Amino acid sequence: DKGTYPHYMLKEIDDQPAVMRKIVQTYFNEDGEPQIDGALLTDLKAADRLYIVAAGTSWHAGLVGAKLFERLAHVSAEAFVASEFAYDTPMLSEHPFFIFLSQSGETADSREVLTQIKAAGYHSLTLTNVQNSTLSREATYTMALEAGPEIAVASTKAYTAQIAVEAVIAKVLGETLGQDAARDFDLANQLGLVANGIQALVDQKEVFEEIAKNNFVDQRDAFYIGRGIDYALSLEASLKLKEITYIHSEGVAAGELKHGPIALIEAGTPVIGVITQAKTAGLTRSNLAETAARGSHIMTIVSKSLANAHDDIVLEDIDELLSPLLAIIPAQLISYYTSLLKGLDVDKPRNLAKSVTVQ
Ligand code: F6R
Repeated sequence: DKGTYPHYMLKEIDDQPAVMRKIVQTYFNEDGEPQIDGALLTDLKAADRLYIVAAGTSWHAGLVGAKLFERLAHVSAEAFVASEFAYDTPMLSEHPFFIFLSQSGETADSREVLTQIKAAGYHSLTLTNVQNSTLSREATYTMALEAGPEIAVASTKAYTAQIAVEAVIAKVLGETLGQDAARDFDLANQLGLVANGIQALVDQKEVFEEIAKNNFVDQRDAFYIGRGIDYALSLEASLKLKEITYIHSEGVAAGELKHGPIALIEAGTPVIGVITQAKTAGLTRSNLAETAARGSHIMTIVSKSLANAHDDIVLEDIDELLSPLLAIIPAQLISYYTSLLKGLDVDKPRNLAKSVTVQ
């Protein structure tokens, strides 16, 4: 039920602080330590490589998850597009373990991969928002996203929930494997900061409505750029924009701009720089300036500790590994208001279905 909200999407964006707190309640004990199923942990520990399989927004959450597994648990991990994996299967390691990410749990492309890897005798985990879904029933293990029903076709709270639950698993696995990075990562505290940081963003909706009105509604193209985790975030930010506003948008690795995409920049084209990683902040800023020199309209989404007086959207400081949980919120809201101001069907964009049950 969307209650007093005009659209499910806006309600689901607003749900996100509560979803973060629900994940803490569900997966952490009284001492603030995350817990996962013991048999699942045994399988994860035995894996030499994690294969994350998903589609669309869930794949984008997997791109972030792979970085969490590598940096917190020091286990090789990669996120794969399900429809590609199924028919162009990569070489598998000796002890692979599969993680399926799916809001609906019914995506046919992911189901096809699960069928194949099950037949080959491999174990798997499904993270899903729908507990009795097909992917949930057919995987060896399942974990709930705890996001509550997501009705709007454009996925919002399932993305942030997927990243948060991946962080839970990466932290537990890393600690079990004796990794200092995992031990020192205070995830319960971080997710609390995330909830507050999201709340601060959704409490200033008028800011994003203004940006949508002044900088997006009349545009044909838009670009989100970033490096590393900020690049993964840029792909999701760009998908949110294209699917509900029909503006052609791309998420580009900031360093790749000059290898091609910069040719598309015209006077006034919005280019949004995502800057949450200290190591690459300066580089992304120079890439933004290169587009500005070609006439783009640049905007920035920046973590507080990296921000200056000229930045447009400033995020509360959280651990760099979790920055997508905050950085996606402005992009969700800008997409929402742009769609609304264009008079489009926000919750049911053309040509798209909530659950894609055909390959
Ligand atoms: C984007 C969107 C789609 C889904 C994709 C996977 O907003 O809704 O890209 O993310 O179809 O769906 P699930 O997660 O249900 O497997």
